[in-house]
Amino acid sequence: MRVESVRGAMPPGGPDDDEFEELRADEGNAMVRLFDEYGRGQRLRFAVGGAASVVSTLMELVPAFLLGVAIDSFFSSGRPFRLPFVPEAWLPAAPLEQFLLLIGLLAGSHVLGATLGWVNSWAWNGFSQHFQHEVRVDAYDAMQRRELSFFDDRQTGEVMSILNNDVNQLEGFLTNSFNQGISIVFRVGGMGLAMLWLNWKLGIVPTLIIPALGLASYVFVKRIHPKYQEVRSSVGKLNSQLENNLGGIEVVKSYTTEEVETGRVEDSSREYLDAQWDAITTRIKFWPTLRLVTAAGYTATFLIGGYWVMAERGVVAEPLPFFNGPGLTAGLLVTFLSYSRRFVYPMRQFGQIVNDYQYAEAAGERIVGLLDTDPGVTDAREAVELETVAGRVTYDDVSFSYETDEGGDEQVLQNVSFDVEPGEMVGLVGPTGAGKTTLMKLLMRMYDVDSGEVRVDGTDVREVTLRSLREHVGYVSQEPYLFYGTVKENIAYGHPDATDEDVEAAAKAAGAHEFVVDLKDGYETKVGERGVKLSGGQRQRVSIARAVLKDPDILILDEATSHVDNETEAVIQNSLEDLIAERTAFAIAHRLSTVRHADTILVMDDGELVEQGTHDELLRADGLYATLWRVQVGEVDALPEEFLDRAAGGSARVGDDD
Ligand SMILES: Nc1ncnc2c1ncn2[C@@H]1O[C@H](COP(=O)(O)OP(=O)(O)O)[C@@H](O)[C@H]1O
Ligand SMILES: [Mg+2]
Repeated sequence: MRVESVRGAMPPGGPDDDEFEELRADEGNAMVRLFDEYGRGQRLRFAVGGAASVVSTLMELVPAFLLGVAIDSFFSSGRPFRLPFVPEAWLPAAPLEQFLLLIGLLAGSHVLGATLGWVNSWAWNGFSQHFQHEVRVDAYDAMQRRELSFFDDRQTGEVMSILNNDVNQLEGFLTNSFNQGISIVFRVGGMGLAMLWLNWKLGIVPTLIIPALGLASYVFVKRIHPKYQEVRSSVGKLNSQLENNLGGIEVVKSYTTEEVETGRVEDSSREYLDAQWDAITTRIKFWPTLRLVTAAGYTATFLIGGYWVMAERGVVAEPLPFFNGPGLTAGLLVTFLSYSRRFVYPMRQFGQIVNDYQYAEAAGERIVGLLDTDPGVTDAREAVELETVAGRVTYDDVSFSYETDEGGDEQVLQNVSFDVEPGEMVGLVGPTGAGKTTLMKLLMRMYDVDSGEVRVDGTDVREVTLRSLREHVGYVSQEPYLFYGTVKENIAYGHPDATDEDVEAAAKAAGAHEFVVDLKDGYETKVGERGVKLSGGQRQRVSIARAVLKDPDILILDEATSHVDNETEAVIQNSLEDLIAERTAFAIAHRLSTVRHADTILVMDDGELVEQGTHDELLRADGLYATLWRVQVGEVDALPEEFLDRAAGGSARVGDDD
């Protein structure tokens, strides 16, 4: 089960102007939410990695401290040293032994630091890799369950970008920045606390650098963030431009618009260049600024600390106010100077980390948006299994409209009612855009009706499980899609257990067998994207074979033979006849001869069912069907004025009796 999303605030910098904005969890800290859900299984790796990071970072503080100790004892006074936290009795007394102990500690801190660094990388990478893997798989699963209209409104590339870019963004942040963040906090905090503990008075001077560097980083992030957004949106524009052009390369070539397109790409690329340059000029000022701040702290520490040491040794007569007393030695000063120089690098990363966090948070929001939104079409709570199906299909006063971006929902189907007896063959005809495909998609619940009911064997399709409903319906789409794989795999799609004989029989019924055996590797030929390119008619036949193999109780053929020639269509019809005879079948057709022998023909026009009857009845009625028929048999002039009007953008309705 998924937990409720945690509510919080938008990231600083405001929303990005990308098209997935609506998908984001609008409130709520997405990272916390994802961490809470997907981090749980990775707790051990996370804890081990984090602890190793902390200890290995603290080990970095040791060498500079030991150097200070060595300077104070062996290199100047020759007195034995003492170590914090270590009882004096444990330390050897002889100077050489003490020296060797010091070297041993130095080496030990390095070895420990390196070992823990390895443990850290190992555990931490394991954590972030498993995390991103689980997030991606779950996001894919959630995406796949979204209703069809979700995909209507988006380009494939956009959805892909969540599963790729956003998940990778998250992974990148977890692997690098998050880990670095922990180590920066402990490095900077550790050095600051160590200095304050060793000599709080002098410690104040270098630790003042920390807030100064923090402030500089904050200002930097504030400035750079909008510029990065600019960069991102110009990258997006450039990408869509390129994608669009490549997709339409045939059109570009045939209209010889190469120059125009190059010009457009140049414009987009220029926009990207400008945005990047703007960001770069801001960024390159940042590092020198940090250096100056650090140098100021370093110099001040050197000045005050150095004077202090000199005053202690009597080199100068007047001690400074406040910064005086026996607490400071030359060795300690060296330790301090070494630490204060080392603030600059982590603080430089700090700006980057804040920046990465913002990207990751934005990515996380899109992922959470995907994970947390319920699919619009889903099983009802008490959904039942649709068992064996006789094949009665009833549309009862069905109205439907697609949701559009503009919010204006144009009615696509209006009050459509009809009843189909089990085993009937129904022809569905009407002008392009009349709503035929939409009507059939409602039967499979690709979309849900706005009002009215679609019933199968008397049961509302919304009251049965999606899975059982779709199992009983075979659909051959207007634009058949073949997956990359063999012809056989494509025909047996969804039925991995089908035998070669099953596949071949289905192909024969669909009129596909003949051309398939002529392919290079027959049924084993790879087709689909990157595979052998099949013609539109061949793809349709493979797709029909796929539906035949499924052996559904209700078969829908959506202009399934529109791309094959008349002769081949006749062959396919002939072989499908037996199949269609024993089940309910809907055939959408442009070529009226295809459905001439149907038990009933439904005539759709502009979202309404305008006529219904057999071929002969409809001809006698002399309505839209009769007109369309006359046009198809060659009497072009039969097309009424109003029809041409509407095709030209007018709104007069054909076949409207009232
Ligand atoms: N996915 C969609 N989103 C929005 N509008 C759509 C979608 N699919 C079809 N339409 C619109 O719905 C109407 C009916 O389309 P459709 O059912 O495909 O007609 P037909 O199959 O009869 O040609 C058309 O005006 C079309 O523009
Ligand atoms: Mg259609």
